[in-house]
Amino acid sequence: MKILGIETSCDETAASVVDDDGAILSNLVLSQLDEHRAFGGVVPEIAARAHLTHLHTLIKAALEDANLEAYELDGVAATCGPGLIGGVMVGMMAGKAIAAAHDLPFIAVNHLEAHALTPRLTDKVAFPYLLLLVSGGHTQILVAEDIGQYKLWGTTIDDALGECFDKSAKLMGLPYPGGPELERAAAQCADPAAAIKRFPLPVPLKGRAGCDFSFSGLKTAVRTHVDKLPKGALRREDVNALACAFEHTVCAILNDRCEGAITRFLDTYGNKTNTPTLVISGGVAANGAVRNTLKTLTNRHEMSFIAPPAALCSDNGAMIAWAGIERLKKGMTDTLDIAAKPRWPLDQDSELNRKSKSSSCKK
Ligand code: KG4
Ligand code: ZN
Repeated sequence: MKILGIETSCDETAASVVDDDGAILSNLVLSQLDEHRAFGGVVPEIAARAHLTHLHTLIKAALEDANLEAYELDGVAATCGPGLIGGVMVGMMAGKAIAAAHDLPFIAVNHLEAHALTPRLTDKVAFPYLLLLVSGGHTQILVAEDIGQYKLWGTTIDDALGECFDKSAKLMGLPYPGGPELERAAAQCADPAAAIKRFPLPVPLKGRAGCDFSFSGLKTAVRTHVDKLPKGALRREDVNALACAFEHTVCAILNDRCEGAITRFLDTYGNKTNTPTLVISGGVAANGAVRNTLKTLTNRHEMSFIAPPAALCSDNGAMIAWAGIERLKKGMTDTLDIAAKPRWPLDQDSELNRKSKSSSCKK
């Protein structure tokens, strides 16, 4: 079974062909960094137009790379939400058109489910597993019980973690996109212990019950530190030290919040799985310090830890194709009148959905 996956929900135009063994036959991602850099973040209208300009070329190239004609596909999957609605509609309509033209099943993919299922593509992780989903628009702790079945245990009550990385990086004068730039700056800090002492930062909700997150206080504290630095262009050593303190604090927050979730998962699902597993997914999962922190935490709880390769953590078409395969195998296809959804929670019944202000790509 071979599926074409199309992703256009934020600032990456992506197309990929994946087969049901998990072989990625092609995976093309065209980032719109240059289009948005001058604005310091994603401009929805520019993103939608850029998807429109490039998507057909990218799809053609993805099919060529996979050595396939469209009629040889077994289905077409496209992100239908959540995300920036203009971009989502571009990818969704392209996917529907290819499906209609070749009489193929169409699968409307929830972008969050695609992130959530990526560890099954890369590592064949069995349900149920505990999932930390950390991207530009979302920060959630969920239990993945099955395809289409998720329990939301915690969400951010303000900013998403990727958003906090990006905004803090901007405050430090780092170029867009902030997350990876901030990680690079932190790695160049000469004396991490001194940096952490010099730039104390808050760990919001520390020790509090539940699995919710809050990041806006951290961003504000970064601003306060930046304001106290000498005026003008910031010195590289200061930025490296502040980035290091920031990353250290993010790890402390994730450690605190995930520890409670792990205990709850082991209590609730421990007897339903032989290999209790924490999975991290979404763009921020590419961060090395974050991965190391969660690896140490899971080791302590004798749990396994899965983090997909960095290229599959940030937005890509392979994760959409894979989510399409998982759904198609279960007969979960969609009709061509399905609408794009700017908001599309993974756990529709959770009252936590009301708490979360994050609904889409926030880069
Ligand atoms: O999943 P993703 O590609 O797009 C969304 O669905 O939002 O996540 C993008 C986010 C951005 O905020 C980006 O700065 C962040 O992931 N990110 C990182 C790193 N790489 C990407 N944050 C921290 N460290 C990184 N290495
Ligand atoms: Zn994403």
